[in-house]
Order: sequence, then structure tokens, then C-alpha cells
Amino acid sequence: MKDVFKAVKVTDSVWWVGAIDWSIRNFHGYETSRGTTYNAYLVIADKVTLIDTVKAGFGKEMLARIASVIDPQRIDYLVSNHSELDHSGSILETLEAIKPEKVFASAMGAKALAAHFDLPCDITVVPDGEQLDLGGKTITFAETKMCHWPDSMVSYLHEDKVLFSQDAFGMHLATREIFDDQCNKALLEHEAAKYYANILLPLSLSVSKAIKKLSDLGIECNIIAPDHGPVWRSDPKWIMDAYTKWATQPRTNKAVILYDTMWGSTDLMARAVGEGLAEGGATVKLMHLSSEHRSNVAAEILDAGALIVGSPTINNQVYPSLADCLSYLKGLRPIGMVGGVFGSFGWGGGAAKSLVSSLEKMSVELLAEPISSNYVPDSDVLGKCYDLGQLVARRIT
Ligand code: FEO
Repeated sequence: MKDVFKAVKVTDSVWWVGAIDWSIRNFHGYETSRGTTYNAYLVIADKVTLIDTVKAGFGKEMLARIASVIDPQRIDYLVSNHSELDHSGSILETLEAIKPEKVFASAMGAKALAAHFDLPCDITVVPDGEQLDLGGKTITFAETKMCHWPDSMVSYLHEDKVLFSQDAFGMHLATREIFDDQCNKALLEHEAAKYYANILLPLSLSVSKAIKKLSDLGIECNIIAPDHGPVWRSDPKWIMDAYTKWATQPRTNKAVILYDTMWGSTDLMARAVGEGLAEGGATVKLMHLSSEHRSNVAAEILDAGALIVGSPTINNQVYPSLADCLSYLKGLRPIGMVGGVFGSFGWGGGAAKSLVSSLEKMSVELLAEPISSNYVPDSDVLGKCYDLGQLVARRIT
């Protein structure tokens, strides 16, 4: 594999030695429709250092890329910035291959690694702010707790101004063009926002703290090297600014109508709400859950000003697809949206009441009473749906 899988030079002393997962489509509930990468980085200094490893099954690819630069057994240090299995799953195979002098992690990282693996060596805990002399190069470790797990930390290579940021500033995008300037910018913006919405949105307070911390430490990076997706070498400021913005969850004039339908009634109501919104000047996004994955819904509500939800009633409950998606969205803890509820029923209600409860738990400010249709919506019901759209539009435009 050595001659096939090659490292990619990031700076004169930093190499990307990660692995590309072209086929993954489900990342703990997040639809990774464009795959992902598990990035690892090799720092060439007196003490040769590997930053993070890759998911189980991809270790050989990483080791082959390392071997294209240096004999893996010459690696002295392994740094684990984040212990989640997509970055540590190959750690035993890696330790066996490289036999490093030391393995570094945060205090929580050391605990997490010990809880996951029967490690053949001790972990050296690096306190927050600790500097590590690599001989000719210096790394500062900074804890970034809950970006993404309690163990998360970043490593900053001073001389090269490279921030190894683990999950933060990443995206799920399989690409062999590993730099931002080699990729389509609109695609990067889309996938970075989707990743933030699905992974980091509930942790936005921690994201804000981490960004302030990096600023307070005087870290001015020329390159941000995350654990997923492209390396930001041409425009690291863009992703830093985007995180600063997303962490405050600013709202726009976009309204997401989230719904499913059994025999078309709720679909008709959703489209009537959409007409009212559009006529009121809002940007409308109808998301029919038979064709939209929950992770795409999360991406849309990252900046939506309103969330309006509709469901048919089945066995006195909301449609299963709504229950699934609303549970997922609640966990992402969006803030600052207004909304409304609509639904249909035959001989027994239940869906609308359940939707109201779900949106209230998400702190969505409901602007009107739920609209219910018995079987097929008549013009009066459709008029109420249209009026709901107009009402919401007045609040978000
Ligand atoms: Fe990419 Fe939190 O793991």
C-alpha cells in the first residue's frame, strides 16, 4: 500500500496522512451524503509527531501515507486531540506499528481512551495550555471541551502557524483535493454549515468559548487543519468567522415547513402555508420527510427564522417520520425561532397536540393555535393555513 497511498504536503514540515471514506452515508444519524475523511497529520521535527489517527479499518491507509514520507517507526509522539472512534479506532494498530515514546491527550481524553481500549502504554496527560517542545518546533495544547466531546483539545504548531483543530471547523466531505482552494467554495460552505448544524449546534456556547480562548492565546493561524474534510489554507478566516456567526444562531427570513403526509391532506396544507409565507415576503423551504433526511432539515434550521410543522394522525400519534425528526432537532437545541402547527385526522386527533408539545420543548414561539383538518382540507382550512403563513412572515421579514 505504501506506493499507492501517499501523504500530501501541508507545509515544509507538516503532512496530511489521513484516510478517505468515500462510501459512509450514516454518521451517528447524520446522512453523510458525500462521505468523509478522517484526517491525521504528521509533523516532522526532531521529535516526529503524529496528530490523531483514523477510524478502524482505515489504519493501513494512514500508515501507508506516513510511510511515503518517513518510516512509521521513527514517530516519537502520538497526540490524540479527540478520542471519538473516528479518530481513535485504529489506535491499537497504530501503536503496534509505530511504538511511540509518548502518547499525549487531555485529562478527559486519557480517560476516554482508557475506557475504549486496552492500551499497551500510558497516556501522558497534557494540561490546558501546556507547550510541547518537539525540537525545532513547538506545540501548544488548548482544551476545547465539548467541541465535540469533553476530551476535545486542539494543538497549535507555532512555527508553521497550523492549528490542528480536531472536529472543529471540519465537514463531512470525501475528497482527495485536501485543500479548501482546490474545492468548490459553495460546496464547502454548504457542507461546513450542515456539519455545524448537525454536530456543533447544541454545543454553540462551547464553540464561542473556544474561539475566544484561541483569540486570548494569541493564536493566529495561517492554516486550520481539522479532522474531517479539507484543510483551510487559503481562507481560514472564513470558517472561523462562520463559526463565530453560527454559534450565535442569527435568524433570517427563511421559514422551514416540515411535514409528512398520508393521503395528501397535510401536503396540501403545507403548500397553502408556503403560499402565505411567500406572499408575505418570507423565503420558503418545504421539507417533505419522505424525501428529506433529518440532517438536511437540521442544516436548514441553522439560520431559519421559523419552523412550521405538520403531520397526519396515525393511531392518535404524529407520523413516525415527524417523531424521529423532531426528537433529533430537539437534541440540537436551536434557539430563537417562531412557528406554528398544522395537521389532519380522520376519526381521532392527536398529531397536532403532540406537535405543539414538541415545538414548545424546543422553545419555538408558537404564533397561532394549531390548524386541524378532518380528512381533506376545505377552502376554509386552506385559508387558515395561508393566514398562518402570512402571520409568520410578518414576524420574520
Ligand atoms: Fe470526528 Fe467527534 O469525532
